[in-house]
Amino acid sequence: MARGCVGLLILVALVVTTSVSAGDSKKEFVGSDKCMVCHSEQHRSWKTTFHSKIVQPRKGGILRDSVAKWATDGRNPGPTTANVTGKAVKLDDVQYVIGSQWKQRYLVKNSETGGFELLNKQFNRLSGGWENYGNKNDWNTNCATCHTTGYRVLDVDRVTGKTLKDEWSEMGVGCEACHGPGAAHLAAKGKDRKKTIFNPANVSIQAQSKVCGYCHIRLENEQYRTAQGNPREDLPAPGIGGSYKAGEDWAIWYPEHVTIPGVQPDRPFTAEYKGDLKGMFMIDEFAKANNIFEEAKHHQEYQGFLQSQHYKSGKMSCVTCHSPHAGKGKPKKIAAASCITCHDTSYTVSKYMPNTGKTADNLFVRTHTFGKNPRKGARGAADMGPPNYYE
Ligand code: HEC
Ligand code: HEC
Ligand code: HEC
Ligand code: HEC
Ligand code: HEC
Ligand code: HEC
Repeated sequence: MARGCVGLLILVALVVTTSVSAGDSKKEFVGSDKCMVCHSEQHRSWKTTFHSKIVQPRKGGILRDSVAKWATDGRNPGPTTANVTGKAVKLDDVQYVIGSQWKQRYLVKNSETGGFELLNKQFNRLSGGWENYGNKNDWNTNCATCHTTGYRVLDVDRVTGKTLKDEWSEMGVGCEACHGPGAAHLAAKGKDRKKTIFNPANVSIQAQSKVCGYCHIRLENEQYRTAQGNPREDLPAPGIGGSYKAGEDWAIWYPEHVTIPGVQPDRPFTAEYKGDLKGMFMIDEFAKANNIFEEAKHHQEYQGFLQSQHYKSGKMSCVTCHSPHAGKGKPKKIAAASCITCHDTSYTVSKYMPNTGKTADNLFVRTHTFGKNPRKGARGAADMGPPNYYE
């Protein structure tokens, strides 16, 4: 490419500002509320799960403790600045909160991009205090794929690879995150109803886990970059303008530009990775002796599970133990109660699923490797009560 041409492209990129909307330009995704009319049991059950609560408006979603300690938790001050723009922020500037089970992070409008950015502190529910959170990427282009439904990249800077424009149809993990876009299903009549929507129960056991693996995974993407120019940590879509549709095999999209440890055969669990992938798996002597490499960070359940005899048996998926919601005459499964349906009572969750995946200081989520010589875990969600929301 001629030099002048590159200059021109950069100039063009500078004048284009990111504009973000909650909407679906292709009108494929309709939103969870639309499903309620006909699937009220599923909808009511989903509303009680953390999938529906992962992104909430500040009002009603912010943790009561974090509000009480906003100025200080007694040792550390609470959030004071926004990470990308560095501007000073107050509690009133917060528009959305992310998380509530293990930790909570805070979103404010990023005036430079039109998207959202994160604050410099996160609230740890186990310690009940503030800890530093330094991520200097926009929320839209570093988090939204796994924390919204119907995410799309609409425009990318061809020189820098930065994501310039994106959208989603709904905040949080809605029905269509696991069932694919619903517009055609809503328009269908009679027998066509069933054919027009994806149900994980109808695909192979391995493909079922892949539906969950789209988000319960850790990877590095060089094909797409954040608004700040860093590699993205998600698989935003098969291509510009498109959106992931549940049931698709995302692992084959652009393998040469993405590192998916444990999923790509040439990216083993035992390797030393860089960047955010550094220290992904436990690779100490204990792990080597057992040939089981537990997740050392959170949102890697898919990568842990792939190593398990459960997965390798070809008979079990995430959905064997977890139901994302109840159905008509179908109670929601309790994951911890599943073990005794196949094993004796010595197979307990606390023994075989130690908390190894770090999510905040001294706070970890459970491994899904199911090794027969488990290590002792650290503290996790079981050591806390239910979240106490403000209002
Ligand atoms: C106007 C009523 C209506 C609405 C609205 C509706 N559905 Fe359905 N849905 C149906 C009917 C009818 C069936 C077929 C039931 C059957 O034949 O067993 C169905 C079946 C399904 C199935 C099972 C498909 C299968 O192959 O097993 C899923 C999953 C589903 N719907 C999800 C959704 C989602 C997600 C939404 C919102 C985007 C939604 N539905 C909105 C009426 C509706
Ligand atoms: C995290 C993924 C996930 C989300 C979110 C989700 N579902 Fe499901 N859904 C599933 C899975 C997995 C099954 C198959 C469960 C089974 O067969 O045990 C299913 C099954 C269904 C079925 C078939 C009947 C049944 O109950 O098994 C319907 C209808 C349905 N979902 C509707 C919805 C609606 C409506 C929403 C939103 C309110 C929703 N789902 C949200 C994963 C999800
Ligand atoms: C679009 C991304 C996405 C998909 C797809 C997804 N999840 Fe999740 N899941 C999340 C996020 C984000 C959270 C964190 C919710 C929170 O703690 O507020 C979560 C939390 C969970 C939890 C813990 C919540 C709790 O109630 O303790 C379980 C279990 C879970 N997911 C299972 C599944 C299963 C099983 C599937 C596939 C059928 C699935 N997820 C598909 C994003 C996703
Ligand atoms: C590849 C998908 C993915 C990406 C990218 C991602 N997350 Fe998550 N996140 C998850 C999943 C899945 C969980 C649930 C925990 C688990 O699975 O271990 C989660 C959990 C969380 C939680 C804790 C929820 C709770 O209830 O305590 C917060 C907070 C969070 N994410 C914020 C973010 C932020 C901020 C970003 C961007 C900087 C981000 N996530 C990027 C998938 C992702
Ligand atoms: C649907 C049946 C089923 C359920 C439910 C189930 N398991 Fe298993 N489990 C198996 C099978 C099958 C194997 C593999 C046996 C083999 O190939 O050696 C296995 C193996 C194991 C192993 C040994 C792995 C090894 O390397 O030898 C552990 C540990 C284990 N399960 C723990 C659990 C725990 C904890 C739970 C509950 C959270 C659970 N299982 C739920 C069927 C099940
Ligand atoms: C053999 C049963 C089993 C299978 C298969 C399974 N899980 Fe779990 N999972 C559990 C149990 C048990 C817990 C702990 C629940 C509790 O403490 O109440 C758990 C916890 C979780 C959590 C919350 C982490 C924590 O520390 O509480 C997430 C997220 C999750 N599972 C996702 C998945 C995903 C994604 C898959 C598939 C890749 C999967 N699980 C497969 C049994 C299972």
